[in-house]
Amino acid sequence: MKVSYKVPATTANLGPGFDSIGMALPIYNVITIEETVLPSTGIEINVMQDVENSELIELDNIPEDKNNIVYKAVEMLYNLVGQNPSELKINIRSNIPIAKGLGSSASVIVGGLMAANELLGSPADEDALLSIATEAEGHPDNAVPAILGGLVMSSMEDDGSVIYRKLKWPDEWFINVCIPDFELTTNISRSVLPEMVPIRDANFNARRFAMLVHAIDTKDSELMKVALDDRLHQPYREKLIPGFREIKDALKHKNDVLGTVISGAGPALIVISEKNNVEQIRNLIKETWNNLNINSEIKTMQVELEGAKKIN
Ligand code: HSE
Repeated sequence: MKVSYKVPATTANLGPGFDSIGMALPIYNVITIEETVLPSTGIEINVMQDVENSELIELDNIPEDKNNIVYKAVEMLYNLVGQNPSELKINIRSNIPIAKGLGSSASVIVGGLMAANELLGSPADEDALLSIATEAEGHPDNAVPAILGGLVMSSMEDDGSVIYRKLKWPDEWFINVCIPDFELTTNISRSVLPEMVPIRDANFNARRFAMLVHAIDTKDSELMKVALDDRLHQPYREKLIPGFREIKDALKHKNDVLGTVISGAGPALIVISEKNNVEQIRNLIKETWNNLNINSEIKTMQVELEGAKKIN
């Protein structure tokens, strides 16, 4: 038996919502899990990248053994039902850029989990899948929208359960995903964060996050321009993303731009704009990064409302 899931990319944090909010984006990975019929074939993991949907290339540097994050998530689910995964073939067809802050790891964890759940006869319900995916990923803000689609606020509770609520992203607001040609792993990006933050910064973010939710809920563009500010993670990560500050400051003065934030742990940036006329924004970003010898790709999109979906 073979099951495939198509899972969207995600962008987490949206400025002040560190580890608390994320949104699905229309870029997808496809994860297929196959129970191998022959005994003793063990676990086989293949990771292929889809280039322009035409050619598949094999990716280096991704563990294709039991250290692979998909295998680990699948193993958690099997263990939960008192089994061990023994004869499985896991294929990952990757379209979501890796180590860019676009939820590629959450996407493959979610796809692997959901496909494995199906193979096992669906022992885990949605709540259990949300918890396992969040535990495997470490925080809920990418995993939850990858499963559910849309824009989702979420929290992992001390007992491992996940509380979430969806928000409706205004159709009038465009999401410009700006992807530089360098990688930044989440581990490195989290390693620069301090253990403790000043109370005034925590306080600042609490106010901004409240504003963010209200601005989205009421499509309040003026409030959104203030709400996207953050003092919990971006100021520390700035040094890892050359050009971020320049791009953010330059775009602050452009009409139709509501703000620029780091996508998840970076290095991709998200520019939220009100009109689909993004040429000026694109040129400014490309030029700023070009001057730093960084190539980039900029895609304008809307939120993906559908989460992980079985495709065969
Ligand atoms: N909220 C996470 C972070 C997302 O900012 O580190 C990355 O997976």
